[in-house]
Amino acid sequence: MAEYRIAAIPGDGIGAEVVAAGLEVFRALEERQDGLKLNVESFPWGSDYYRQHGRMMAEDGLERLRGFDAIYFGSAGDPGVPDHVTLWGLRLAICQGFDQYANVRPARLLPGIRSPLEGCGPDKLDWVIVRENTEGEYSGAGGRVHRSQPHEVGLDVSVFTRTGVTRILRFAFELARQRPRKKLTLVTKSNAQRHAMVMWDDIHAEVKGDYGDVDSDKELVDAMTTRMVLKPQTIDVVVATNLHADILSDLAAALTGSIGIAPTANLNPEGRFPSMFEPIHGSAFDITGKGIANPIGSFWTGVLMLEHLGEAGAAARLMAAIERVTRVGDVLTPDLGGNATTEEVTDAVCQSLLGAND
Ligand code: IPM
Ligand code: MG
Repeated sequence: MAEYRIAAIPGDGIGAEVVAAGLEVFRALEERQDGLKLNVESFPWGSDYYRQHGRMMAEDGLERLRGFDAIYFGSAGDPGVPDHVTLWGLRLAICQGFDQYANVRPARLLPGIRSPLEGCGPDKLDWVIVRENTEGEYSGAGGRVHRSQPHEVGLDVSVFTRTGVTRILRFAFELARQRPRKKLTLVTKSNAQRHAMVMWDDIHAEVKGDYGDVDSDKELVDAMTTRMVLKPQTIDVVVATNLHADILSDLAAALTGSIGIAPTANLNPEGRFPSMFEPIHGSAFDITGKGIANPIGSFWTGVLMLEHLGEAGAAARLMAAIERVTRVGDVLTPDLGGNATTEEVTDAVCQSLLGAND
C-alpha cells in the first residue's frame, strides 16, 4: 500500500474550487488504483485567514507542513489585500522556506484544445520551462527611501548566486537529458544586464561541458518570445531566471490554449523539504464563485505531484483521463470555448478514470 500525506492549501479566489475538484479526482484515482492512498489535510490559509489573524498562514506554518509528502496548492491573491502581502506571506514563504528552487512548468498542446498555434501540429509544442524559484528578481532585496518626496528612490535588487544558478542549470540539463529531443535553451539578457546575466552565460558554458549528450543553445529573452510563437518546434526544455520564466510561462500557457490548463511544480529536488504543486492561473476573482473555473490546471498539477511521489502509473492514468476528456471536447469550461462547469469537467474526468481499462 503506497500511502502519502498531502497538505492541501486551497488559498484564495478560484483556488478553493479547483483544489476541491482536484481532491475529487484523487478520490476517483484511489478507487481506480488499488493500493494508492492520499491522506489529505486541508489548511485554511490565505487572504480570509489574513483578515482574521493578520497573517497569511499560521506562525508555525512551515513546521506544520514539513512532515507532508507534498503540498497541493490553489492560489494566493485577493483584491482587498496588497499582492505583495499575499505572495510573500504564503506562496513565496513556502517556496523559499522549503528551498523549492526548481519551478517546472510543462506546456503542451492537449488533444482537442484550440490553440493560436494549432496549425503547427500537436507535437510541435511540447516544452518544459524550468524557472529559478528562490532568488533573482524575486529575492526580496531592495528598499524604498524618501517616501512620497520628489526624490523618492525604489530599488528591487536581483540577487543571483553561483550556487543558485549552477543548481538550476544542472537540474534543467538533467531534465533535458531525460527527454527524447534532449535540447535545452538558456534564456538570458546578457546584452543589457552585463553582470548577473553574463554570470549565467558563463556558468551555462561551464555546466554544458558535463552534458555532451544535450544540445544546448542560448536566446535573449525578447527574442525568445518571438521564437516561441514563430518556431515552437525548435524548443524543448527552457531554463530562465525567476522573472523571465514567469513571463514566458504565461505566454506558453496562452499558446497552449488557456492559462486555465497550465500546471506547476515547485520542487525541492533533493527532497529535504516537501515540494508544492499548483496550477499557474492564480485566484481569478472575476470568475470566483461562478462554478466555471477550469479544473484542468489543477488536475494536471496533480499529475506532476504523482510523478514526484514516484507514482508514475497513477500519473499516466490521470493524464490519459484528462486527455480523453479534452479530445472529445464536449465538456470544457468557457476559457476553452465550452460551456461546462467546473463540476461537469470534474465528473467527466472522474468517469473517464473509472471507466478506462488502462
Ligand atoms: C506565477 C504567478 C506568481 C509569480 C504571482 C501570483 C506572484 O504569476 O506563479 O507565475 O509571479 O510568481
Ligand atoms: Mg506568472
